[in-house]
Amino acid sequence: MKLADVPHGSMRTCVIADREIVICHTREGVFALDNICTHAHARMCEGRLRATRLVCPLHGASFDIRDGRVLGPPAMIPLATHEVRVTDGIITVCLRSAREP
Ligand code: FES
Repeated sequence: MKLADVPHGSMRTCVIADREIVICHTREGVFALDNICTHAHARMCEGRLRATRLVCPLHGASFDIRDGRVLGPPAMIPLATHEVRVTDGIITVCLRSAREP
């Protein structure tokens, strides 16, 4: 995915190995997380991105996009994060296995 396709403050999704990923571009950098909320089955890309806080559209749980940790309930389980590299304007995501935290 091109960095230019994900302006500051926005999100885009992609599917890698049957796993839906949301890519978030903020002043802090570019981050990639699982796109499905750990509380129920909501797509995080349909929520709000406020700085480094990603808010679920269904029940309002929030997560830190830098490490996936829960910032606000009702979710209790962090979102999985994935390594991101940006080279020559291209975003590359290195998928973390589903078993890794
Ligand atoms: S589905 Fe995300 S907070 Fe409930």
